[in-house]
Amino acid sequence: MVLAIESSCDETAAALVHRGVVLASVVASQAALHSEYGGVVPELAVREHLRNLLPVTREALARAGVGTRDIRAVVATRGPGLPAALAAGYAAAQGFALATGLPLMGVHHHEAHLYSPWIEGTPPRAAWEKLEPHVSLIVSGGHTMLVRVDAVGRHRVLGSTLDDAAGECLDKAAKLMGLGYPGGPLVDRLAEEGRADAGLFPRPMLHEPGDDFSFSGLKTSVRTYLSRHPGCTDGAASLRDVCAELRAAVVETLVGKAVRAALREKVGCITASGGVTCSVGLRRELERHAAKAGLACRLAQPAYCTDNAAMAGVLGEQLWMSGVQPDAPGLEVTPGWDLDAAGLRPRAKAAMAT
Ligand code: KG4
Ligand code: ZN
Repeated sequence: MVLAIESSCDETAAALVHRGVVLASVVASQAALHSEYGGVVPELAVREHLRNLLPVTREALARAGVGTRDIRAVVATRGPGLPAALAAGYAAAQGFALATGLPLMGVHHHEAHLYSPWIEGTPPRAAWEKLEPHVSLIVSGGHTMLVRVDAVGRHRVLGSTLDDAAGECLDKAAKLMGLGYPGGPLVDRLAEEGRADAGLFPRPMLHEPGDDFSFSGLKTSVRTYLSRHPGCTDGAASLRDVCAELRAAVVETLVGKAVRAALREKVGCITASGGVTCSVGLRRELERHAAKAGLACRLAQPAYCTDNAAMAGVLGEQLWMSGVQPDAPGLEVTPGWDLDAAGLRPRAKAAMAT
């Protein structure tokens, strides 16, 4: 039984995982608190994490119907993320590990996102046995990247955003349209009822070689369009159309580059995770284009797209069982942890031999 804690940004989360099965996953979101400020305020995030860590953990234990004595290992997100936010959750996990003598496995937040699409079914379980070489799209408010994955812990970043992340672009453009924060979900909802046939916005770097992304120019295009067409989002219908145009630009870029990378890498499967993978438009288009290209498509369930501790728990448990060494006592958080480096962690000899 593994207790997992996640606090890298503005969600405080705890989960209990046993042999890949998610027994409980509890998330306290701070979105409402930060929406007033139009973005995450680190000091407020830390205060909320400190407030929520114990209740969220207690709730996870109660939902799983287990006690602290059933736990055999602790997992916590060690990076990347907001330094003080990471430290809040990681220090709590360190304290628990120290008091109980249990091992603590720090996990990489994006590596946890990376394998979240493999959590499936009821009860939710990580289908590690199904994992095959694939190309994975991680797309959130902070990151947009394409990663080639060959096995658990064996992955290589193919490309990432040179500036804004896709979610950040949606959120910033939504703010320009007066839609509040985070605006990504609302843009997605409005886009469902709008038309996107005018090609108003560019598909950044879609036809350039390489797997990198760039979304800050798209945000600028939205700003320019809004200033040249004052009042264009005043009517509900036109607001929906601008949202549909914006979403189409983001989705076509993500889907086009992900499918191209998967075909070039000669893998048979594409996966997607991270908050933007909640977008119904992105889910539909990824599935459609993957099928057209003869690729399997595996999307993280919406509950595991946004930040949660279940994805950290299943990964941490798997790493621990495969012999990756737990964190040394007193280790500090790694806010700038590189995803490629996280895949090269030392394994104990005994486990490696099995
Ligand atoms: O993974 P996440 O919870 O946090 C990190 O950024 O790590 O992702 C949050 C992002 C935000 O930019 C939010 O606008 C976006 O995910 N998002 C969506 C949807 N739901 C969340 N974007 C588009 N459509 C959605 N339905
Ligand atoms: Zn995340």
